[in-house]
Amino acid sequence: MPVEFIQTIGKIGKWSVNRAIGRRRPLIAVFSVTHYCNFFCPMCPFGDSNKEGQIKITKKNDLTTEQWKKIFDKVSKYCIWSIIEGGEPTSRPDFMELVRYLYKLKLPITLITNCSLLHTIDLDELKKYLQFVTCSIDSLLEESYCKVRGVTPQMYYKVLENLELLNKHNVPHYFNSVITKYNTEEFINQEYFQRSRELGVKSVSLTFVEERSDVNYSLLPDRQTIIKVCQSILEHIKSHKYPQVMIPPQYFEQIIEFGRGMFDECGVWKSIFVNGNGTVMVPCWKYTSPENSYNLLEKSIEEIWSASQWDIAKTCHDCEVLGCVWYSSQPVSTFAQNYMRGLSKMINQKNSNFIDPIQA
Ligand SMILES: C[S@@+](CC[C@H](N)C(=O)[O-])C[C@H]1O[C@@H](n2cnc3c(N)ncnc32)[C@H](O)[C@@H]1O
Ligand code: SF4
Ligand code: SF4
Repeated sequence: MPVEFIQTIGKIGKWSVNRAIGRRRPLIAVFSVTHYCNFFCPMCPFGDSNKEGQIKITKKNDLTTEQWKKIFDKVSKYCIWSIIEGGEPTSRPDFMELVRYLYKLKLPITLITNCSLLHTIDLDELKKYLQFVTCSIDSLLEESYCKVRGVTPQMYYKVLENLELLNKHNVPHYFNSVITKYNTEEFINQEYFQRSRELGVKSVSLTFVEERSDVNYSLLPDRQTIIKVCQSILEHIKSHKYPQVMIPPQYFEQIIEFGRGMFDECGVWKSIFVNGNGTVMVPCWKYTSPENSYNLLEKSIEEIWSASQWDIAKTCHDCEVLGCVWYSSQPVSTFAQNYMRGLSKMINQKNSNFIDPIQA
């Protein structure tokens, strides 16, 4: 029996025992490996236009390679899946070294990237280590893409070229698209699905934009447009055509009915989200303050997950439409079965070293 399989089953077993006695522990690791990003997305704090300032913070605060490795070691004792993101993770010079290290720890890896730097990476090597690349492609139309991502048309075409490279090198990938007021039309007229198919993409994950509390603009479409977008996506899901939509239809149905995603208790505690400087915010990034910040290099996961601030997540419903929070807040059975199995099956591409912990 492969050692990865035994380890995964062991971790799920421990997690379930903890769960049964009312202890929360993380199962998915999200590593925001750098504070730096080369894009200017208005929906995201890393889209900050002051790139010089951002580089200074990055140089000062981003963890070193060795520090990240220590964090990976710690987290791998609990988590059955890892997600590498940022900032833009591929901007780190040691990006491949970090991926290689996680792979050696036998943690399945998803990379979330804006795809703008993929041409600088050895994709044949990368695909040996990764399960999937999640391509943050919100729009397949030049004008809307550039608005949502805050970049030039040249960058849009570079990203399209890099998507071609993923196809050429057979790197399993899917699109994650954020729906804002700038890109609704292509969902309503379904051009988004058509163009994704043309690009050879079999699966897409969709979320409405979660509004930022630190800016004075809104990116959400108006209510009527949101409803039209949801109806059109539901129609596409029912048609069973590619690309498959990785988030369940209930997400869109609830937004039509209630204007938001519904859940009893926020499931943010199921993931450990590690910032570029090695801190973990409890319960999440929306409660950023020194009292809620724990340094994972200094503290154990047991200590952090015993913090009293986790109680905030029991009643907080601030994330209204953020797909990943909605998903992780669904009943454990839905979350575990669909999330892990769904990801592996839907991608339906070469994936030889994947071990489905739920199915197995
Ligand atoms: C913060 S980015 C980091 C990784 C990489 N730079 C990228 O864009 O893929 C991770 C994901 O968060 C999504 N995201 C950023 N701001 C968001 C928001 N306000 N609402 C929903 N998703 C958001 C991005 O589209 C991306 O897919
Ligand atoms: S590319 Fe990713 S990290 Fe950078 S600003 Fe956009 S969403 Fe944020
Ligand atoms: S619902 Fe509240 S606790 Fe959960 S992730 Fe959103 S802001 Fe954090």
